[in-house]
Amino acid sequence: MITSLSGTLPLADGNAIPAIGYGTWQVADGERAVAAVKAAIAAGYRHIDTAAAYGNEAAVGRAIAEALEDNGLVREDLFVTTKLWNSRRGHDEALRAFDESARLLGLDHVDLYLIHWPASSRQHPEDWAEVNAATWRAFEELKAEGRARSIGLSNFMPRHLQALLAVAHEQPVVNQLELHPGFGQWQAAEASRQAGLVVEAWSPLGSGAVLGDPALTAVAAEVGRTPAQVALRWLLQQDVVVLPKSVTPERIVANTELFDFELSDEQMAAVAAIDDGAEHHDPDQVTF
Ligand SMILES: NC(=O)c1ccc[n+]([C@@H]2O[C@H](COP(=O)([O-])OP(=O)(O)OC[C@H]3O[C@@H](n4cnc5c(N)ncnc54)[C@H](OP(=O)(O)O)[C@@H]3O)[C@@H](O)[C@H]2O)c1
Repeated sequence: MITSLSGTLPLADGNAIPAIGYGTWQVADGERAVAAVKAAIAAGYRHIDTAAAYGNEAAVGRAIAEALEDNGLVREDLFVTTKLWNSRRGHDEALRAFDESARLLGLDHVDLYLIHWPASSRQHPEDWAEVNAATWRAFEELKAEGRARSIGLSNFMPRHLQALLAVAHEQPVVNQLELHPGFGQWQAAEASRQAGLVVEAWSPLGSGAVLGDPALTAVAAEVGRTPAQVALRWLLQQDVVVLPKSVTPERIVANTELFDFELSDEQMAAVAAIDDGAEHHDPDQVTF
């Protein structure tokens, strides 16, 4: 179990990933994003999760450069993730997209590069597996060159994962999935773990929507914490990496205060029971 904000989980490639990352989707671009990411690093986050699709890699990169200076940190103290967007799949295009992300971030390497979504069978009915395999070859080259220290996946369901594992020379080490008390892609999480991948939770607070759930607020009252802290602790106790996003300074800090309480088995089960199994984004239907 992770016991501090800088605690890490081991990755199958020998690297380690901080179990709490700061999510940057919808932190906007420009000064607001710079301020939010700097506040997160000042609060002790050592893992930043961004993506080409978030449109804020330049702001995230600027925040990182300024925060290293302000907090007396070096680049190795931070774990930075970015992701390849869907319009850039395929070997050559993925390499070009990585160059653009690295340039915008102002970094010579990232700690983790993810395929944001698998090629969907709706967009690529005949050859979705080949498209993912071609993209993965580029990822393997980036890893071999040290430009991406670790490489992994996001939103890969078991069928996508198995197809990729069948052709991969370098194994993916992470699958980032939608996991929170209101909805969890737990089958994909389990398949990923069985294949040796670490699981990360995107939208660990259900983008805020799950925080008013009566069962969650009841457990929060029992342990004297906020619903957000309970949701994050519930994921951490399952060895899932969490990526909470907030632009609110007090919440940025509060979302790290997770290590002086514990959820009992009954409380873990009560939070798990919130999930009504409603289907969210089916990666095979994704057309964006
Ligand atoms: N791989 C993927 O396909 C994918 C998809 C979605 C997200 N992600 C990653 O996952 C990260 C997190 O997901 P997310 O941005 O959807 O949302 P989230 O972290 O689940 O929730 C963020 C929302 O909750 C609010 N919030 C944060 N802390 C709170 C607290 N302590 N109390 C009350 N409200 C709180 C935030 O408001 P304020 O900001 O106003 O404070 C915001 O509206 C993203 O930023 C991104 O890095 C990845």
